[in-house]
Amino acid sequence: MKTYLVTGGAGFIGSNFVIYMLNKYDDVKIINVDKLTYAGNLENLKSVENNPRYSFVQADICDREAISKIFAENDIDYVVNFAAESHVDRSITNPEIFVKTNVEGTVNMLQCAKVAWTIGDDQYKEGVKYLQVSTDEVYGSLGETGYFMETTPLDPHSPYSSSKAAADFFVKAFGDTYKFPINITRCSNNYGPFQFPEKLIPLIMNNTLQHKDLPVYGDGMQIRDWLYVEDHCKAIDMVIRGGRLGEVYNVGGHNEKPNIFIVKSIIEYIKENVDETVGEHMIKHVTDRKGHDRRYGIDPQKIKDELGWYPETCFEVGIKKTLKWYLDNKEWFENVTSGAYQKYYDNMYSGKQEL
Ligand code: NAD
Ligand code: DAU
Repeated sequence: MKTYLVTGGAGFIGSNFVIYMLNKYDDVKIINVDKLTYAGNLENLKSVENNPRYSFVQADICDREAISKIFAENDIDYVVNFAAESHVDRSITNPEIFVKTNVEGTVNMLQCAKVAWTIGDDQYKEGVKYLQVSTDEVYGSLGETGYFMETTPLDPHSPYSSSKAAADFFVKAFGDTYKFPINITRCSNNYGPFQFPEKLIPLIMNNTLQHKDLPVYGDGMQIRDWLYVEDHCKAIDMVIRGGRLGEVYNVGGHNEKPNIFIVKSIIEYIKENVDETVGEHMIKHVTDRKGHDRRYGIDPQKIKDELGWYPETCFEVGIKKTLKWYLDNKEWFENVTSGAYQKYYDNMYSGKQEL
């Protein structure tokens, strides 16, 4: 039995990972540590909450005492650090919390794991590993050609991506300085079930269903490289099991799409399946995001060659699966978009001018 300490397991990718791992393996135990910020939702984990191999602890990854206690009480083999403030727009209005959670929280997780796993000078319990879930945004923005490789210099632009890059450097520093067993994964944009509707796909889906304006930042020709969330979970699993210590692995499936294409695909799906009155007239081009990265594109050759990873769900299938999931889980959608969400939405979008 291997015990995983998963942080941020009540968020979008974390909850998908917890479910993926418990369903895939009988010899995996998961301790999910989550502060339950606005983005954390235990409803995501309903299908596994009674699984004897799953447990939940509400704690902040910055809290030394709480995290050390979890290490002291459990024989942890792997840490998978998903916990983060993850939304670029929020980082532009409130950068401090991104430094706190994404940088200080990561350093605290590293320190606690290092103390718990040390058996001698720069020597650690057999087989342990710390995996940092990072992002392609640390590489900055691409021109019309080329891809992000693991060797591409980091050039983050937003407070969010800068905090993730800083965290990556600390993880690397623990590997370089203390020979601490680490890996870093840098994945492109994920989509799938349980994504909080501050992010493009569920936001546009929700607004289309509600007959609200569909806010497209600037000309909508910014490109993101979309990956179905389960393919990201598979990559993390493979890197934990087979990744060479100290290495970075990029994760992406060559699925680059301009934002406007994504928005139009969602409208088309709703028009065909739910409500024929929706249409492209609902699109509003609004004030662009400050410092908006133009294009992301991952070169995933390293993880393919070394670990045999490949994406299983192509975009055309994955997007339909995702939109259907949101339609089939109306209660989940209604719960996350009620209360505080409405206030967030009004604050964020009331200041945006139509272009
Ligand atoms: P999310 O915002 O949906 O979830 C974040 C989770 O972390 C929430 O459950 C939240 O409660 C928890 N959390 C936040 N601060 C915490 C703290 N101080 N202590 C403990 N828990 C805390 O994020 P996501 O989209 O699932 O992203 C997860 C990770 O994957 C992040 O590290 C993000 O940078 C990275 N990532 C995301 C994407 C993407 O497309 N969403 C792509 C690549 C990498
Ligand atoms: O690339 C990986 C990153 O992808 C992760 O590290 C981040 O945690 C995750 O949030 C995501 O960042 P993005 O900024 O790319 O995702 P978001 O869904 O916020 O926006 C996707 C694109 O859509 C981006 O170009 C901005 C644009 N957008 C977004 C929103 C919310 C709009 O045009 N309108 C919107 O209302």
